[in-house]
Amino acid sequence: MQILSVSSLKGGVGKTSVTMGLASAALHNGVKTLVIDLDPHADATTGLSVSRGAGREAGQLLREARRANIAEHTVRSGWIDLLPEELQRDATLDVVVGSALSSTFDRPDIRPRDMKRLKTLLHGLSGYDLVLVDCPPSLSGLTRIAWAASHQVLLVAEPSLFSVAGTERTMRAIRLFSNEFAPQLTQAGVVVNRARADSAEHEYRLLEMERLYLDKLMLPVLEENSSWQQIQGAAYPVHQWPGDQVRDMAQSFDELLKQLVPAKALNG
Ligand SMILES: Nc1ncnc2c1ncn2[C@@H]1O[C@H](COP(=O)(O)OP(=O)(O)O)[C@@H](O)[C@H]1O
Ligand SMILES: [Mg+2]
Repeated sequence: MQILSVSSLKGGVGKTSVTMGLASAALHNGVKTLVIDLDPHADATTGLSVSRGAGREAGQLLREARRANIAEHTVRSGWIDLLPEELQRDATLDVVVGSALSSTFDRPDIRPRDMKRLKTLLHGLSGYDLVLVDCPPSLSGLTRIAWAASHQVLLVAEPSLFSVAGTERTMRAIRLFSNEFAPQLTQAGVVVNRARADSAEHEYRLLEMERLYLDKLMLPVLEENSSWQQIQGAAYPVHQWPGDQVRDMAQSFDELLKQLVPAKALNG
């Protein structure tokens, strides 16, 4: 079971979008997946077609980390109902619901004891190939809780000046954090989101990112896609949405997923 945190220093760069794109690719490729919505805004919960309040949510489970059995509180994503009927039975895509409650743990001065709460919850969990943790937009308590429980961090960045600088700071923060608290933690790479082929600035920043991150820059780069908000608004998996441009996007997530989970977890 691969536990992957999706993080960035800033909001609005596409953490939730990447989490959902990967969840859609996982569903499409038969990778049994659990999405943990740690962001108090709970956008991933909504996007995965789960109503807030459907199960005991992340904040409450973190509070009860020692006693709670997380497997009893996962909720099935409504995306499964959109699959052809014959595929629904074997599909696994579950969600640990997010809510504002988790924000009580989002302090910069989080105690090491609290930092282990998600790790404790996930200890002994089985039945999934992949756990995706959608993090809030800061490196505060909740992101640290996610990292302490994870094998890998996937960073999301936009091809812009501040994002490049922020990503470098975040990579440093991950190195320091893993040295001190999480020896198992590695950097999966940096996914670039919302790139525009017609933008000279984006092209320049992409070259800069290639130079800075070397093999940590993950390909393909995800393009700006005008349908994306509509897809998310409809709480739909990108793999089920019609249109060529969206199909390219879905394939990009397939490619990224293949680099993140062991080949044996993928169907076919
Ligand atoms: N590749 C993309 N093309 C177009 N819009 C995007 C793309 N990625 C994200 N967005 C939009 O940008 C906004 C922020 O994305 P989101 O995934 O919520 O970021 P974060 O979780 O990092 O705060 C959302 O409205 C989302 O629909
Ligand atoms: Mg988000």
